[in-house]
Amino acid sequence: MEFISNSLLNYCETFSEPESELLKELNRQTHLKVGQPRMLSGHLQGRFLSLLSKLIKPTNILEIGTYTGYSALCLAEGLSRYGKLITIDPNEETNLFAKSFIEHSAFKDKIELMTGDAKQIIPNLNQTWDLVFIDADKKNYAVYFDLVIDQTNPGGVIIADNVLWSGKVVDEKKDKDTLAIHEFNHKVSTDERLEPLLLPLRDGLMLLRKK
Ligand SMILES: C[S@@+](CC[C@H](N)C(=O)[O-])C[C@H]1O[C@@H](n2cnc3c(N)ncnc32)[C@H](O)[C@@H]1O
Repeated sequence: MEFISNSLLNYCETFSEPESELLKELNRQTHLKVGQPRMLSGHLQGRFLSLLSKLIKPTNILEIGTYTGYSALCLAEGLSRYGKLITIDPNEETNLFAKSFIEHSAFKDKIELMTGDAKQIIPNLNQTWDLVFIDADKKNYAVYFDLVIDQTNPGGVIIADNVLWSGKVVDEKKDKDTLAIHEFNHKVSTDERLEPLLLPLRDGLMLLRKK
C-alpha cells in the first residue's frame, strides 16, 4: 500500500534536499542487485533521518537492521565530531554490499557494521545512545526497545520504522507481524518515560523522545 501517490512523492522529493551521488548509486545498485529493495529507506525518508540526526547532533547512534547501508549513511550525516554509529545485521551478503558503499563515504571511520543478531550483540555493547533506529524483524521490535531504553540518554530519540505496516495495523484481523507492531505501538505510546509521535512518513515512523 502506498500512502501517497507517486506524483506527490516525486513532488516532495523535488522540493527536498537531493540524494548525494553515493546514496543515489546505492539506491540504484540495491534495486538492480539485491532482493527486496523496498526495504531501503529511500530519498525522502533518508533526508528525514539525516535532518533529524543533524538536529540531535548525536555522539552515539545505534541502528538495528543495516540492509544495504542506506539509512546508516543518512543517520551518520548528523554525527558530532567524534561521534560513532554502530549498525547490526546478520545478513553477510548485504553486509558486504553495505561495506563497499560505507568505505567510499565520508563516514568510513565513523560507522561500525557488526554481523550478527542484534538481540545477542546489544547486551554486550557498553554504550549509551543519543539516537537509535529500529528497522529489523518486526516481531522483535519490543525486544529491541527493551534492550535499548535504559541505555538511551535523556533527550535521546528512538525511531522505529514500518509501524503502520502497509496500513494493516488498523485491520480488525491482524496477522502475527501486524499484531507485533500494533502491540509495540501500544507499549511505547503508553510508556511514561517517552514522548511519542507516530509520523505517517512512508510506512510509518514512530519517534520516541526520552524525557
Ligand atoms: C528493512 S531492512 C533495513 C533497511 C535499512 N535500515 C534501510 O533503511 O536502508 C531490515 C534488515 O533487518 C535485518 N535483520 C533481521 N533480523 C535481524 C536481527 N535479529 N538483528 C539485526 N538485524 C536483523 C535484515 O537482515 C534486514 O537487512
